[in-house]
Amino acid sequence: MTILIKWAADAPETELLRTEEPAEIRKELSTLGVRYEQWPTYDLAPDADQDAVLAAYRDEVQRLTEEEDFTLVDVMRLKNTGQEDFWEKAKAGREKFLDEHRHDDDEVRFFVDGAGTFYLNIEDTVYAVLCEQGDLLSVPEGSTHWFDMGEKAPEFTAIRFFHDGEGWVGDFTGSPISQNFPTHDQILASRAAA
Ligand SMILES: [Fe+2]
Repeated sequence: MTILIKWAADAPETELLRTEEPAEIRKELSTLGVRYEQWPTYDLAPDADQDAVLAAYRDEVQRLTEEEDFTLVDVMRLKNTGQEDFWEKAKAGREKFLDEHRHDDDEVRFFVDGAGTFYLNIEDTVYAVLCEQGDLLSVPEGSTHWFDMGEKAPEFTAIRFFHDGEGWVGDFTGSPISQNFPTHDQILASRAAA
């Protein structure tokens, strides 16, 4: 289940909204130009490669690609199969986009499995969207945001959509704001405790 939490950017201690209701999440996010969809999910082999993932989601990928004129689609997979450098790689991958930044292209991700939280900082409001299997989220180009895949279980498979192979560079704002808000692991734990 997706979770949406909303705070004033200068008041991370007070949640203005917390919801796991997809229709409410879609409504909140659509006012920001953020696309949020839930797709049907398919069982995949544990060792499914990029082609197998894209074949399973062919119809949805094609629809979205046509609607949004994407020119590049790929699959990012972070999976712990016992490789020696897994935790080191996961840590580096997490830290890469944990600070506030923006891109020249939309950041569009469909979660085939695993989870991650996108945080958008738009007009003095921070929106955290914890995405899980079956969730698609788009962060519009130029929007300030950060992403946390968590430290405890940083495994996920995501289909990524691009308009431009070059647009994916992060332009970091230098703001420490991301440190003020609960992490992906903390949001997950807060749901378990509720
Ligand atoms: Fe990003």
